[in-house]
Amino acid sequence: MAILPTITEMVDLNGKRALVTGGGKGIGAAISARLVEAGAEVTIADIDPNIHEAAEELSVSFANCDITVPEQLQAAVRQAANDSTLDILINNAGIYPPTGPILEVSDEFVTRMLDLNVRAQYSASREAVNYMSNGGSIVNISSIAALRGGASITAYSTSKAAVIGLTKAFANELGPQKIRVNAIAPGIIDTEGLDEQKEALKEDGIDVYAAIAANPLKLAGGPDYIARAALFLASDLAEFITGHLLVVDSGSTA
Ligand SMILES: NC(=O)c1ccc[n+]([C@@H]2O[C@H](COP(=O)([O-])OP(=O)(O)OC[C@H]3O[C@@H](n4cnc5c(N)ncnc54)[C@H](O)[C@@H]3O)[C@@H](O)[C@H]2O)c1
Repeated sequence: MAILPTITEMVDLNGKRALVTGGGKGIGAAISARLVEAGAEVTIADIDPNIHEAAEELSVSFANCDITVPEQLQAAVRQAANDSTLDILINNAGIYPPTGPILEVSDEFVTRMLDLNVRAQYSASREAVNYMSNGGSIVNISSIAALRGGASITAYSTSKAAVIGLTKAFANELGPQKIRVNAIAPGIIDTEGLDEQKEALKEDGIDVYAAIAANPLKLAGGPDYIARAALFLASDLAEFITGHLLVVDSGSTA
């Protein structure tokens, strides 16, 4: 029987270059830390200029950019690829202000949500593929909101459901180039971004703490739960997996 490689051999990302959008905080920062731990050369693309300190702590390079702006996104991808090749793209940056009741939602709100959460993920993947001549792995961050919807988060649910379609379509087209494309649907994860929205969500009838208490494993989600899943999908451990949505939610949607 063939001797299987050890786990550490299989998640060795030495010599690989990765780009993590929105990688300065929350889920993105945890994913960046895990990729660095596995040996990857990581670049964070983040709109927040203060992230440069976090980037230094994480030992990653920092591209201060708004990924919805094409020239800024292209420059960030080029930087991450070191003008050469890119192996991993983590499409993580996203916003989730509560949408409010459908009848009160403006077109501008929906457009802004879709522009970052969907269109920029599409564009980032397209730009990254230009540098993935050796094959690669793209991991898109969706949400359990894509699977079960929710009152007052209709625009967000719509955007994150689109990410699943995008993932499957890209996986089909890019498979022959040995580029795998997968998505993760996180459950409720305690991040700064979520913290900022908790009160507004509660006013709209979504109690984050009650939702955590109701999940089968009774676990409060930390960013590293998602980072471990992203590391798995990004690495050769997931060599046979593409077009997949990995739900990481302590059983909330079970
Ligand atoms: N936290 C949760 O409970 C949860 C659950 C499911 C899915 N998600 C998804 O996970 C992802 C990360 O969520 P989080 O809670 O870590 O968010 P967060 O708000 O804590 O961090 C998001 C990061 O993205 C950056 N960013 C925002 N807009 C950007 C832009 N235009 N260009 C570049 N960077 C930008 C921010 O500066 C920030 O550093 C999002 O896509 C979110 O929808 C989060």
